[in-house]
Amino acid sequence: MTTTMTPEVVVGVRSHLDVEKIRRDFPALHQKVYGKPLVYLDNAATSQKPQAVIDAITRFFTIENSNIHRGVHYLSEQATRAYEEARVKVKEFINAREAREVIFCRSTTEGVNLVAQSFARRLVKPGDEILITAMEHHSNIVPWQILCEQTGAVLRVAPINDAGELLLPEFEKLLNPKTRLVSVAHISNALGTINPVEQIIETAHRRKIPVVIDGAQAAPHLKIDVQQLDCDFYLFSGHKMFGPTGIGVAYGKAHLLEAMPPYQGGGDMILSVTLEKTTYNVIPHKFEAGTPNIAGTIGLGATIDYLAGIGMENIAAYEQELLEYGTEKLSSIPGLRLIGTAKKKASILSFVMDGIHPHDIGTILDREGIAVRTGHHCAQPVMQRFGVPATVRASLAFYNTKEEIDALVAGLLEAGKVFG
Ligand code: ALA
Repeated sequence: MTTTMTPEVVVGVRSHLDVEKIRRDFPALHQKVYGKPLVYLDNAATSQKPQAVIDAITRFFTIENSNIHRGVHYLSEQATRAYEEARVKVKEFINAREAREVIFCRSTTEGVNLVAQSFARRLVKPGDEILITAMEHHSNIVPWQILCEQTGAVLRVAPINDAGELLLPEFEKLLNPKTRLVSVAHISNALGTINPVEQIIETAHRRKIPVVIDGAQAAPHLKIDVQQLDCDFYLFSGHKMFGPTGIGVAYGKAHLLEAMPPYQGGGDMILSVTLEKTTYNVIPHKFEAGTPNIAGTIGLGATIDYLAGIGMENIAAYEQELLEYGTEKLSSIPGLRLIGTAKKKASILSFVMDGIHPHDIGTILDREGIAVRTGHHCAQPVMQRFGVPATVRASLAFYNTKEEIDALVAGLLEAGKVFG
């Protein structure tokens, strides 16, 4: 049994979404913080969950709870079916060729570590190179640094311009016969930049270099088509796309996954075990050792049903409208500087204000019921690139409104007065 509740979406004249109706699907949005209505603008850190997802998880623990791939009893069969149905939903969500190319893992972070250790580690020799960009999240930096320490490989970094856009010619110049792998964010969590991943993949593939895409910030905002992109790996997290925490997806091309050794050993990833030798299971099970996050996976399936009911294209169009509105409004605030002004951007507004530390801004906004993230956003090299210790980041989702952006602007003007 899986929950397949989808929202009814009314097509509006301007935004294509009936946002008020959508907001009713998200119980957490309807609460007060310090007596003020919550304005939740921290979606890049984690997003709120629709009732359909909460219901799917509750239903699993209330009725279906059982382990998967192991029991012959009714509940186990039900849970196994729901878990594997979620895999098919993910396959359709990202347009993978086959469901077995979808590996369930803990998060994008675990996905990057899986690819680094199971795929890349066998490829690289001392002096070989891994290429990333200067706008990566720590989760797309540190696993490669660990790999470099283990193997003697070298991490190379393609630069970005002052708008936070990748310098494609520089990126291309860094590709050379020693480059074994490219790993880039589809969307920067700190800047909002949408990277030209099609071009990056095509450029790398011309040199037979495989490409990993960190899709953590893209999966909640864009229609993902891994076949059209032709990426070798695509990684994302459930919790940033309105699903549960602790569940993520590592998509990989089947022939690559088949050739890779397991990342972790344990139950379910084996075909047979003797004390002398173990034969590994086929993909995807080879990469899902131990009892997985069954409830989270079923919750992710319900998330995908929910998003499909709205349409990722509608979400992207509405969020662009919000982004334009927010950019214009924030740009009119004296002393405010946007960090990340790429031509192609997702709905992330990162900024600093003259004379006020981002944490102070965050505290003042919090007292107004407005949740933003302040700090380095797990992207310290991006802060270094822009010469700031931290930024304030308002990250918008399809349930946010222009009125909430107005509330943010009012809060920032207030902060300006307090510290001005
Ligand atoms: N990666 C998350 C963020 O950008 C935590 O806030």
